[in-house]
This record gives sequence, structure tokens and C-alpha cells, in this order.
Amino acid sequence: MQTLLGKHIILGVTGGIAAYKCAELVRRLRDEGAEVRVVMTQSATEFVTPLTFQALSGHPVHTDLLDTEAEAAMGHIELARWADGILIAPATANMIGKLAQGIANDLLSTLCLATEAPIAVAPAMNHIMWSDNATQDNIATLKNRHIYIFGPAFGTQACGETGEGRMLETHELIEKLDSLFSHESLSNTRVLITAGPTYEAIDPVRFIGNRSSGRMGFAIAQAAIEAGAKVTLIAGPVNLQTPHKVERIDVESAHQMYQAVMSQVAEHDIFIATAAVADYSPIETHDQKLKKSEEMLSIHLHRNPDILAEVAAMNKLFSVGFAAETEHLQDNARKKLKSKQLDMIAANQVANMENPDEDTGFNSEYNALDVYWPEGYIQLEKARKTELARKLIELIAEHYKTKH
Ligand SMILES: Cc1cc2nc3c(=O)[nH]c(=O)nc-3n(C[C@H](O)[C@H](O)[C@H](O)COP(=O)(O)O)c2cc1C
Repeated sequence: MQTLLGKHIILGVTGGIAAYKCAELVRRLRDEGAEVRVVMTQSATEFVTPLTFQALSGHPVHTDLLDTEAEAAMGHIELARWADGILIAPATANMIGKLAQGIANDLLSTLCLATEAPIAVAPAMNHIMWSDNATQDNIATLKNRHIYIFGPAFGTQACGETGEGRMLETHELIEKLDSLFSHESLSNTRVLITAGPTYEAIDPVRFIGNRSSGRMGFAIAQAAIEAGAKVTLIAGPVNLQTPHKVERIDVESAHQMYQAVMSQVAEHDIFIATAAVADYSPIETHDQKLKKSEEMLSIHLHRNPDILAEVAAMNKLFSVGFAAETEHLQDNARKKLKSKQLDMIAANQVANMENPDEDTGFNSEYNALDVYWPEGYIQLEKARKTELARKLIELIAEHYKTKH
């Protein structure tokens, strides 16, 4: 098993008799290479001491929502963002009910509402509690909301009775948690992405730029993270928040972007060039602001290196280009795919800058892409850039795997 390696797992322990078994679970998760933080409900602390989990996880245990000291160290929102996955084991009937109702009156239930990470619960309770209609309705609600239910198993119970309600064994929980992440199409893959425009300085206050907002590249970085990749994002001047866990390098000019990409190539497997890199830059950058004097002013430009073509020519990374075209979309995209020896190219029509809400392309929230590869073609219909990015990442992952 490799998929838990480096994963941030919150183990939520609630007040059931099976809580003692989770000391072993922490150890096994760490053996798999996961980083574990334990969150306990108040009831759980009556069954096992936080000190046990602190010693086994190597980190203080989180128990209180309304604890100013804990909030100052790693607050509940930070903890929710930190997690790649939350496993609640054992999950009491009470906690299952709270999750189903969206109640957030302790740290663990609040985290579950505040996280975007997958949540799994491992129910453990007396078999009559488990088969009670309320519990079964709550479980159905959680399944509907894509919360994973691990178990329970049939067997002898702490109360001496036999039935369905035993928590799964530690190795079964680990296997199930592992499989939660193994669907990730880009796990163990390193993705290098460029995004945004470049600014080519004319003098200290003026530059030649373009209308790229960087949104598509940032959405692709987010989608690649969701697909389990390690992501480096080289961004031109944009006003966007770095997606969680993405390593970002800021640059301004095409030359800086070139340098940054070349310094990263050896560390990556896939290159996705969404940046609108200036093809030309002024031969001379003036040290002082140019004065308004002549009637006409000429600025001489020279060609910038073609970052994408150079990376693709190395034949080491699976290289994906973007083509923003105002005309002859198909022809131009196919030409670029061939001339730059790309593995894939995503082309979009850019037009109508006045009405970005209706529009697709540079400054819009939306986009539509025609994606070409040497043997085929697919049209990804107009959608939010975040949604489109996920589809594109799946397509890239599929073709990358076929090639390797
Ligand atoms: C000795 C003892 C054992 C318990 N075992 C379980 C159990 O295995 N599963 C369960 O759902 N509740 C069990 N409970 C009841 C829960 O502790 C109780 O519902 C509590 O409110 C759960 O709080 P929590 O969900 O915030 O941890 C047990 C209670 C006691 C006193």
C-alpha cells in the first residue's frame, strides 16, 4: 500500500467501548506513512486518555472547540483544511446522528462540516442500537452525502451479545481508507503548471501584457491536487489565491517564467502550460520612465523562448499546451500540437471581452475546450473553469498512464 504515504489523516474518536482499539489504529496509520492528528469527543476521553493518543500520534490531541489556546495553535478551520481525510472510529450512534443532522456542537462534528476532505465513519455499537430505525435512517443520509461507511461487522459484542455492530478490525479499516485514496488518478505524479499572463517591461512603469486572468491554470492546479498529484504552479502577475497544498512560484516576465520552468522540469512528470506567455519582449528596457516627446514611438521587440516547445522537445515530461485563438481554432490547435510535438493541446476561443459573464476564455469564470491529442479529439462543453479543469485532469491522467 502506497496511497496513505504522506496523507494527512484526522482520526476522530468518539465515546464507544471500541475506542481502545484505535490506539493500535494510530500506530498502523503511521506505519503506512500517514500523518495523524487525533480529535476526541468529551465522551471518548472517558474511555481512553488523550495522553495515549498524544504519545502514539506524536501530536497533542484536540478535544475542545472553544479552546482559545488550541485555536491559536491550529484552529478548527485550519485543521479542517489540513486534512486529506477524516476517519471517525469508533463512530457512536450519537455522532452518526449529529453528522446526519448537520449539528456542529463539538470540535469533531464542526470539522466534518468545515472540511472538503472525504469523511469515513466506522460505526461501533450494540446491535440493537445499530438496527434501530433512527440509526439506519441516519446512515442512509450519510451515504447519500457521499460519506463513506466502513462496516460494521457481525460478531460478539462488548455487552456479551452477538449481532451486527462490531467495529471493523484495524487492518480492515486501513485497507478501506487506503482504497479511498487509491482511486486518485494522479497519485505519485508530479505536475508542473504555468498560469496567468507575463509582463514585459518597457520602462519602470509600463509593460506589454495580456488579458489572461490565470483562473484556468489555478483551477487545473486545484484539480490536480484533488487527483492526488504533487503540484508546482508557476504564476505570472495574477490576483488569485493559491490552492491548498500547491507550491507556488511567482514570476513576472516570460524570461523569468522560462527560468522557473527549466529549474523545475527535472522534478516533474507532467507539464501543463496554461500561461499566456508573451511571444515577444522589448529588446531594450529603459531605466527611466519614457518621456512624452516624439509624435511616433517605436519599440523593438524580439522573440521570447518558446517554453512549451522546449519542454516538449526534451521528451521527458507529458506535455500539455493551451491555445487561445480568435479564429481557425481547430486548424491552429492541430498545427501547434504537431509543430511543438505535444502530447495534448486544449484550445479555446477567446472573444467578446466586454461581456465576461456570458463569455468563455481569458477573464471569464467559464470556459469550453476542444482537446486534441495525436490520435483523437474531444469537446469539453462550456462549464465553470473548476469543473472543466477536473475533466481535463482526468483526460490528462488517462493519456499519461497509457503512455507510461
Ligand atoms: C460504557 C459505555 C459504553 C458505550 N459504548 C457505546 C458504543 O459502543 N457505541 C455507541 O454508539 N455508544 C456507546 N455508548 C454511548 C455513548 O457514549 C453516548 O451516546 C455518548 O453521548 C456519545 O458521545 P459522542 O458521540 O460525543 O462521543 C456507551 C456508553 C457507555 C457508558
